[in-house]
Amino acid sequence: MENKRIEAVVFDLDGVITDTAHFHYLAWKQLAQELDIVIDEAFNERLKGVSRMDSLELILQEGNRQNDFNQAEKEEMAAKKNAHYCEFLKELTPDDVLPGIPELIAAIQEEGIPIGLASVSKNAGTVLKALRLEEAFDYCADAAKIRKSKPDPEIFLTACGGLGADPSRSIGIEDAQAGIEAIKGSGMFAVGVGESLTKTDYKVAATAELNWEKMKAVYNRY
Ligand code: BG6
Ligand code: MG
Repeated sequence: MENKRIEAVVFDLDGVITDTAHFHYLAWKQLAQELDIVIDEAFNERLKGVSRMDSLELILQEGNRQNDFNQAEKEEMAAKKNAHYCEFLKELTPDDVLPGIPELIAAIQEEGIPIGLASVSKNAGTVLKALRLEEAFDYCADAAKIRKSKPDPEIFLTACGGLGADPSRSIGIEDAQAGIEAIKGSGMFAVGVGESLTKTDYKVAATAELNWEKMKAVYNRY
């Protein structure tokens, strides 16, 4: 069978390239505790792919404290969470790139296909630097310029635009349900990492199973 053209592959960062999704969770949990709000890993699934301020709103709602704080206080809380998160980032090294990711990036590069990053994290640059992966990405959608969190497709459309790629001929890789919705909303082929994800075009349980040849075979039949 003839191979269908792939114009770009766009990766999510937190939870796909490295396990910073867990650091985000620990940092939010610490802040939530200070507010007497209990969050667990199941609740945390709803925070994945969601911007810092939107995540804070969801946590305040969870504790029924959504009307207790003004904007300045909320910004202070978000900054506190970010300070906790940045403490965790200090521990990040190139060894923390998730299994299968270096091989996948190398295989895509070998075919000359542009690689993009679609992360709503304002810490994305710091994370890529710590992992020594800055060179791997041809274009990173600038989180500071994105107006809407995933599940809105804006960030994936921005990444494809920056790479000069047609979204309908491009692949997005995500570990969050909001991210899968964003990929599908942009018209891309959605690869999911995580058993519980729905609406994916191709799904694996963990990054170690992300095999480029298999992914292309499913994309070709799509
Ligand atoms: C996303 C994470 O990548 O970035 C979210 O999945 C996080 O959990 C969001 O809230 C924003 O990150 P940051 O680093 O700007 O607070
Ligand atoms: Mg993620």
